Amino acid sequence: MDSTIPHRQPLDDAMTKNAEAGRWVRACAVAELPKGAGLKVELDGVPAIAIFNLDGGIFAIDDLCTHGAASLSEGFVENGVVECPFHSGTFDIRTGEARTFPCTEAVRAYAVRVENGDVEIWLGEARS
Ligand code: FES
Repeated sequence: MDSTIPHRQPLDDAMTKNAEAGRWVRACAVAELPKGAGLKVELDGVPAIAIFNLDGGIFAIDDLCTHGAASLSEGFVENGVVECPFHSGTFDIRTGEARTFPCTEAVRAYAVRVENGDVEIWLGEARS
């Protein structure tokens, strides 16, 4: 482990003890993440995920907007919020919460960690 980037939330006991609840999956290298923009990653068995580097804090949310078929990794990023490229609804990158109309439903936010320069995402039970 080379560095620690804060998780959106600390891992809970159930998640750390129950390996069957999910797993950490490599998504990309930290060096691949553009500053001030998102990176779309495709992982087996889950919808595409958008990863963001917010001043060194790395966050991951579903790439698909909850309002339509838009890729949030292509959205404009400002002040921790991503603006959907289709109708300009916004989401909090840290929590996935919908922030502005027409988006009203949150996207899923994933726990993230960095291991040996790689971004890993927790795939498993939704963490709320
Ligand atoms: S598709 Fe994202 S705001 Fe409409």
